[in-house]
Amino acid sequence: MSFRRARPYVNKEWLEGNRSAVSIKSPYSQKVIGEQIIATPEDVERALSAAYEAKKTIASLSSYERAKILKEAARLLEKQKEKFASLISNELGKPLKNTLDEVSRSVETLEQSAEEAKRLIGETIPGDASERGGKAIASTFRVPVGVVAAITPFNAPLNLVCHKIGPAFAAGNSVILKPAPQTALVASEFIALLLEAGMPECAINMVLGGVETGQQIVKDDRVNIISFTGGTVASRNICELAGMKKVLLELGGNASTIVHEDADIKKAAEMCGRTGFSNSGQSCISVQRIYVHDSVVSEFTELLNNEVTSLKVGDPLLPQTDVGCLVDEKAANRVLAWIEEAVALGAKLICGGKKTGASIEPTVLLNPPKQSKVVCQEVFGPVVSIIPYQDIEEAIRETNDSSFGLQAGLFTNQMDLAYRVAESLEVGGVVINGTSNFRLDHWPYGGIKDSGVGREGPRFAIEDMTETKMIVLQLS
Ligand code: SIN
Repeated sequence: MSFRRARPYVNKEWLEGNRSAVSIKSPYSQKVIGEQIIATPEDVERALSAAYEAKKTIASLSSYERAKILKEAARLLEKQKEKFASLISNELGKPLKNTLDEVSRSVETLEQSAEEAKRLIGETIPGDASERGGKAIASTFRVPVGVVAAITPFNAPLNLVCHKIGPAFAAGNSVILKPAPQTALVASEFIALLLEAGMPECAINMVLGGVETGQQIVKDDRVNIISFTGGTVASRNICELAGMKKVLLELGGNASTIVHEDADIKKAAEMCGRTGFSNSGQSCISVQRIYVHDSVVSEFTELLNNEVTSLKVGDPLLPQTDVGCLVDEKAANRVLAWIEEAVALGAKLICGGKKTGASIEPTVLLNPPKQSKVVCQEVFGPVVSIIPYQDIEEAIRETNDSSFGLQAGLFTNQMDLAYRVAESLEVGGVVINGTSNFRLDHWPYGGIKDSGVGREGPRFAIEDMTETKMIVLQLS
């Protein structure tokens, strides 16, 4: 890959000049693949001011025009699928299989945002439901909030940017983006693509930098909404700094998948094997805790072991690779320490457990105790734990005994049981006869408890990124 440069895009200009630059290394090969130019506090100030100034212009574009631009962006992205996929694989160590999928999903996210741009509809509410209403009629309209600040993570660096910019622009807002520093190259390429698709230059500002850059944006009163995807600690900091702004949070999880005694055990093992290790487990809904009925634990463990040991681990740029590496070696060291802790506390290591550079072998643990970090915190690595249960109430209780509540999976052939369990699980979404790690981009996605506030998915994000404006007609 040729050397690339990620630059902030501020007030219609790509910035360079006298600013500090940080080199970007592929976490797998350790080769320098590019660099990013860090925005200064003055740049961030200019970006905020430009985003604020652009509000009226963007709001005045017709929804037809906004939809047309988003559709064109989707078309251009589809044409450059391989380029974007290999860029993400290089920058993040995410296997090409997963990044090709991510680009396809990003195309859909943009297309769905375009479609939703045309459905910003309101209601007519007669006043006569009130004794005082007379013949008054209220009409409601969805109007843009103004400036959306989007702070995005490294793990799905294209699709999660699309999930913020797509609905924000569809709703008529201007956006200031701060992407994860680890994946600045893909963010920068994507902003260039949006401009090529005809997005007005003033509609988007992007700043590159770390925590201070994010804090400067979050504190600023010209921002109307903060849409953040990332960790719980950072989210608490955002809430403290945001003041009266609306904050949308897509946070972590330690997702549970329940495999009941009557389930198709082979299918459950295959799906847990496939969805517990994609992107080295670096997804908020990655399968982490698998509660398996006692009577089928041995069979399930053997089948899962077969699945996991046949995964191809290696170079993320090779088409056959199933598991690449983590975002950096520091993350791999942490995950390794958590595996070692679980084993020291009594878990049985079924497979994996070794580290090379930033890669961790796909790891399956049996019966780690509840207090081990691989159970009670978010692993964000290629590690799943099998935990036996005696009756379904226990599986429900254990799933819910978590500070998180994003998504859960459940395998059973009894529909009544499936619905009863789904109703009892304290999460944002339950997948029946699938694992926790299943998301379609037009569905509502988000969690409860420490997993977040609000829902992604263009239709649902647009609800949050618009206000209801009421106009009343008093008829005599
Ligand atoms: C996330 O980690 O929350 C993103 C998961 C996905 O979009 O599949």
